[in-house]
Amino acid sequence: MASARWALLVVVLAALGCESPVDTDPLSHLPRGAAQLEALCARAGDNAITSALCAGETPSVTSLVELQSLLGLAFDENGRPDFALTANSSSLVARQVSAINPRAVLMNVPEDREDQSFIALAYTRGDQLVEIAVTPPTGETAFYLLRYERGCDDDGTPCSLQQRLLPETESGWTDWSIYDDSDLGNSVFDCLQCHQPGGPGTPRIYRMQELQNPWTHWMGSLSRGGRTLLLDYRAAHGVDETYAGIPGGLMQNANPIVLENFVKRTNGDSESEEPNAFPSQAIEDEVRANNPAQPEDNATPGRSATWNDLYQRAVVGEALPPPYHDIKITDPQKLETMTRAYVDAVAGTLSGNFPDIRKVFRDDALADLSLRPRAGLDGRGILVHMCAQCHNPRLDQSLTRARFDATDLDRQSREEKDAAIARLRLTDDDRFRMPPHFFRDLSDDEIEASVQELQR
Ligand code: HEC
Ligand code: HEC
Repeated sequence: MASARWALLVVVLAALGCESPVDTDPLSHLPRGAAQLEALCARAGDNAITSALCAGETPSVTSLVELQSLLGLAFDENGRPDFALTANSSSLVARQVSAINPRAVLMNVPEDREDQSFIALAYTRGDQLVEIAVTPPTGETAFYLLRYERGCDDDGTPCSLQQRLLPETESGWTDWSIYDDSDLGNSVFDCLQCHQPGGPGTPRIYRMQELQNPWTHWMGSLSRGGRTLLLDYRAAHGVDETYAGIPGGLMQNANPIVLENFVKRTNGDSESEEPNAFPSQAIEDEVRANNPAQPEDNATPGRSATWNDLYQRAVVGEALPPPYHDIKITDPQKLETMTRAYVDAVAGTLSGNFPDIRKVFRDDALADLSLRPRAGLDGRGILVHMCAQCHNPRLDQSLTRARFDATDLDRQSREEKDAAIARLRLTDDDRFRMPPHFFRDLSDDEIEASVQELQR
């Protein structure tokens, strides 16, 4: 009945010629480029980012390496930052990251820098985003998102997959916009929902769920899993390619311990060290006990009771989704196809279109990564699993986002439930679609089950 009403509305609007183009940009309400920088600098606190970008003339930044140099995080004659690489992220860019499109974190600790700051820069290819966090010697940890443009996006449509996923995306920037955590607060790109999970007034934290040896999903030569992932990376990228500004020859030095130490030092020994710790050794042991071919051969997924407990906490909306139980999240067949496409595209010998090489996850991993709901949930269960991460009473209640609380569906007003129903039915690319496509998707049946729950 409701879906019939909805369909009718769409038909009427289309007939009236009201089919306005969908707003696809979660940040369309904010200024861009120089205007955004001016607004940010007018209010900003004092830290390594604001001193690099706000003092004096606006610096020219046309590549990732130039940005890294500006922040003292480049591999050049001035030094080498520490870095770590993950093949499965539970962060903002969870949907983008795998062994062939990893997330790199470059960092400095106060001893490395004149300004005595902790600074970390995280980068993954695909959405032209750079994430930065900084802790000055006195003052608060701040989070920034830099989004760059490359000319191919001048008409407002995104650059092609090839332009966003091959090495060329790291340079040839024509403009950039930088947003701080207050700009991003009520948006899909809100940093604090995860980096200040207790809400306003509680500690702002750095995160690394797989904080303990053997740091499942983090690449490097220190662990069997890390070596396995590095091999998958190399099959696509070889040993010479610069990735995330890191020269190819240094990739094997990727080291999860530097991020472990960074997170432990910045967050202190409080329980906020990592509120959602993933006990790597226990989970890897359990997975291997029921499937000794892991991690090299992940054709049969592993099982882990320890992991199930962590996952259940995300399903009921109490914690951030954990990363995957196995070391590899990739489907062997998809990984092979996408690796070949990447190699051919870089060599210029690809026939046909470049595929989305981020789509390499095992099908079963989508629900296990909470990118889709757990199988078998009813409408209420789906809403809690898919919405509570951003709609809960712990987070900033002054944002309009907080008007919907997925952890307390019985107390939502009719009006708010109707707003949720309308959001669920928007198209994938609409910035107002819930859950945001950047994070997760629902099938038609799951949308229908959620709508029925909200109609009660
Ligand atoms: C959905 C939760 C989530 C959101 C939203 C999020 N992060 Fe993170 N962030 C994480 C997690 C988890 C990690 C640990 C590495 C990983 O899993 O990729 C992380 C790591 C980082 C790091 C590396 C240093 C560290 O803490 O380990 C930086 C820098 C960072 N995030 C910046 C940001 C910025 C800037 C934003 C907002 C634009 C943001 N993050 C939004 C969860 C999140
Ligand atoms: C990644 C974070 C995130 C997730 C997950 C998420 N939302 Fe949202 N939601 C937001 C943000 C940010 C806003 C505020 C910006 C806007 O209005 O789009 C919002 C706004 C809303 C609003 C409008 C509130 C109001 O009255 O203004 C509703 C309703 C809503 N979401 C429902 C849902 C439902 C239902 C789900 C799950 C199916 C969901 N959201 C999942 C981030 C999220």
